[in-house]
Amino acid sequence: MGLLLDVIEGKEVPYTPTWLMRQAGRYMPEYRAVRSQHSFLDMCYKAEVACEVTMQPIDILDVDAAILFSDILPPLIPMGLDLEYIPGTGPVINNPIRCEKDLERLNFSPDLKFFQYIQDAVSMIRGKLPKEKDLIGFAGAPFTMASYAIEGGGSKSYEHIKTLMYREPKTFHKLMQLITDVTKTYLKMQLDAGAQMVQIFDSWGGVLSREDYLKNAHPYSCEIISWLKKQASKPVIHFVKGAGSWFDAASNSEADVCGVDWTLDLDLAFKACNNSKVLQGNLDPIALFAPQEVIEQKLKLILDQAKGGKGHIFNLGHGIIPKTPVENVKFVVDKVRELSAR
Ligand code: CP3
Repeated sequence: MGLLLDVIEGKEVPYTPTWLMRQAGRYMPEYRAVRSQHSFLDMCYKAEVACEVTMQPIDILDVDAAILFSDILPPLIPMGLDLEYIPGTGPVINNPIRCEKDLERLNFSPDLKFFQYIQDAVSMIRGKLPKEKDLIGFAGAPFTMASYAIEGGGSKSYEHIKTLMYREPKTFHKLMQLITDVTKTYLKMQLDAGAQMVQIFDSWGGVLSREDYLKNAHPYSCEIISWLKKQASKPVIHFVKGAGSWFDAASNSEADVCGVDWTLDLDLAFKACNNSKVLQGNLDPIALFAPQEVIEQKLKLILDQAKGGKGHIFNLGHGIIPKTPVENVKFVVDKVRELSAR
């Protein structure tokens, strides 16, 4: 059992534990070496490869927890969506859902045997990972998953998903419910295979107004969280990027931990949730390009703002991007440990 679990259970910890979103990725030469030998999806499907890259940030950075190497989008495949990763472009869905008729292409009772690979990866990683490092499983939140299924890839305006949400709410909700149902089982499988906790990534929830988020996104994320809390008594981390002005609403769930991005100070986030949650965050990942003295000032501020709160897990406010200098990432892990030592 590791320090993340200790913080979540309210125990004393020797320092603020750290893990970083996208800690395994192209910014690391060791990742690029493995990636040059496999397609991205093959890396996710082959347990030994997923295990190898999951371990890289543990070995190289000595972060306090590992996150399963995978992606949020492969669970869309058994639902009938044609997912492809195109280098330089990112994930693409070749048959996006844009209207009621498109639902006919979806498989409403997907074969869950598809997820055997995730169980194999989780149990192999748990077997290799030292006991004091927690393993985090994850999934995308329904709204973020649906945004890829509907937009067909990344988006700037989210025009297709918002249009469907406003014009064809029934179609939108059918898709959201399918994703919700599959995600429950997918996350439960990861917990059963040995993950200590799971994180739900709502990377794009922040493009919604408070009203639209509460009506169209939050209930589905809450359904997954409540179901998991009943089925498996393990912690859930809920991260809604961009929740800032309606963090009080986003944090109103059964999640144990809420992720916070850099646009909301941690002291204000603790206030907004009445100190009811352990918080995770919140360095701007682009601050990793700053000189180390500047980074250190930002770490001091974050650790200071977290003092007096229910509990703090250090992280970034979003994932590490490919050109990030590895030495600055290592600097952050070491500095947080030094500055927060108690
Ligand atoms: O180290 C970890 O954090 C675990 C692995 C992980 C990946 N993706 C690996 C990945 C995790 C947790 C994710 C989550 C993910 N994927 C999210 C939610 C978090 C976030 O960043 O908002 C989202 C929105 C995705 C969708 C996705 N996958 C995009 C937009 C891209 C393209 C951008 C990019 O970085 O290439 C991916 C591909 C992807 N997922 C890569 C990795 C390491 C790069 C693929 C490659 O090597 O070519």
